[in-house]
Amino acid sequence: MATDQIKALEERLKTASDDAINRLAAVTTIDDLRSLQSEVLGKKGSVGSMKSELGRLDSVDAKKEAGAMLNTVTEQLEAAFNTRRDLLEDVAFAQQVAKERLDLTEHLSVARRGHSHLVTQATRRLEDVFTGLGFQIAEGPEVESDFYNFEALNMPKSHPARSMWDTMFVESGEPGSVLLRTHTSPVQIRVMETWKPPIYAIMPGRVFRRDTPDATHMPVFHQIECLVIDRGITFADLAGTIESFTKAFFGGDFTSRLRPSYFPFTEPSAEFDIRRPDGTWIELGGCGMVHPNVLRAGGLDPEEWTGFAFGFGIDRMAKERHGIDDIREMYTNDLRFLRQF
Ligand code: DAH
Repeated sequence: MATDQIKALEERLKTASDDAINRLAAVTTIDDLRSLQSEVLGKKGSVGSMKSELGRLDSVDAKKEAGAMLNTVTEQLEAAFNTRRDLLEDVAFAQQVAKERLDLTEHLSVARRGHSHLVTQATRRLEDVFTGLGFQIAEGPEVESDFYNFEALNMPKSHPARSMWDTMFVESGEPGSVLLRTHTSPVQIRVMETWKPPIYAIMPGRVFRRDTPDATHMPVFHQIECLVIDRGITFADLAGTIESFTKAFFGGDFTSRLRPSYFPFTEPSAEFDIRRPDGTWIELGGCGMVHPNVLRAGGLDPEEWTGFAFGFGIDRMAKERHGIDDIREMYTNDLRFLRQF
């Protein structure tokens, strides 16, 4: 009798359990899972309700056997519900993350941002290096007088050295008295007139020459001038400053050298070159000890003050640095070219 009862119970238990497992596989939300769980394992559930039937069994052994069977199936079903719940929770979390995700992708299709021209970039870097060495920045006018561009720089009228600069004159005042500055050296005089020594200054800016454009020349280009005025300045200070600047700007594996030269505003004068790591030399600019006549023109007593100066072209330096073949490329406003730098 008892065996029949257990058989029947086992039968119903299996049906209820199989049915629960099938329905569980189709459940897609936590809420549905919860209601299915109480339909199956709750007090009145298809499996849960069978517990109350145990009392109706005939023998103690039968109660024990059926109880153990019911417990095993209940545990199996609980494990199946838990596994399914974990899975649904993972899915729900992933959906929430996807919904709340912030799109931080940069939209490159939107108009591209511009950037400074490569000559401006070089100028800013030069300014950084020199201000790091303790220099201040000065600027002067692009339309200059004959006095600042030539006369005060120890080139009186008809001095032959004036022909070193092909000059563009401006039709204003006395013929030949107003011009577009041919170099940044006139700013030296303006600084001497207005600042009190000691002076440690750099003067970047645009300069103009009556030149036909070719691969290495433009009628408008950029220079940077350096002026130091202090007591007891020597040629060694000049050489040391150029060497420090070379290493700071180009890198520790570059060095510099000076070659004797001539400029009316310096005595002695030199040209300076920098040596690349591969051993080749690039000519960079001119330099020298400030001529006593130039100090006087700037209102300083050459018996008290000494100084050095140097100047070089920024465009050519940028050209060298980026391996540009033709300096004219830099001024064609071709974005395909400019965007590379
Ligand atoms: N002004 C010169 C030029 O344009 C360059 C130069 C040479 C500047 C010697 C200086 C200097 O300050 O001392 O060719």
